[in-house]
Amino acid sequence: MPRPYQPSLLRLLHGATALLVPLAWLTGLLVYSTDDGRFGSLPFRPAGEWIDIHGTVGVLLWPIALLFGFYALTAGRARLRQPANALALLALALAVGSGKLMDEDWLRDGRFQHAVYSVHLLAWLLIALAVALHVGAVLQRGGLPLARSMASLQVRSGDLPGNWFDQIRRSFKVRG
Ligand code: HEM
Repeated sequence: MPRPYQPSLLRLLHGATALLVPLAWLTGLLVYSTDDGRFGSLPFRPAGEWIDIHGTVGVLLWPIALLFGFYALTAGRARLRQPANALALLALALAVGSGKLMDEDWLRDGRFQHAVYSVHLLAWLLIALAVALHVGAVLQRGGLPLARSMASLQVRSGDLPGNWFDQIRRSFKVRG
C-alpha cells in the first residue's frame, strides 16, 4: 500500500488548527471552572487571567479556522465525505462562530443566561467528542501511517507554496 500523503497546505492549516483547538479547549475549561462552575469546577485554581488568555487563543484560531474551512470546502472537499471529518469541521465552526459572538464581560458579571454562551459551552463539549471520533476514525481507516501523514514534513514537487493557489483554483473546476 502506498504511503499516505497529505497536501502541504492542508498540513499547514490542519496543523495550526490541531495545535490551537486543544489550547482553546483547555483555557476554556479553566475559564468555565474559575468564572462559572455551575456544574462543577476543577479542584485547583491556577492563577491567570484565563478569560483574556482564552480570548487571545480564540483571536489566533478564528482566521486559521476560516482558512482551513475554506480549504476543506474547496480543495479538500472529497475528504469531507468521511463523516468524522465533516463532524470535526462542523464542531470547529460552531465553537469558533459562537466564540466570536461571546462578550467577555458576560462571565465577569456573572451573566450566564445568554443563549450564545450556552451554545459555546455545547460546542466545547461537541468539539472534544468530534475530535476524539475524528482521530479514532483516522486510526481505524489508515492506522498510524495515516495519522502520521498529517504531521509529516515531507513535501513533494508540485506541492510547494507556489502551487497552492492552483490547487484551490482547480478545485473549482473539477466536480466530485
Ligand atoms: C484538533 C482538531 C482537529 C480538527 C478540527 C480536525 C479537522 C479535520 C478536517 C475538517 C479534516 C478534513 C480536511 C479536508 O477536507 O481537507 C481533517 C483531516 C484529517 N485529520 Fe484532522 N482535525 C483535528 C485533529 C486531528 C488530529 C489530532 C489528527 C491526528 C491523528 C488528525 C488527523 C487527520 C488526518 C490524517 C486527516 C486526513 C484524513 C483523510 O484523508 O480523510 N486530525 N481533519
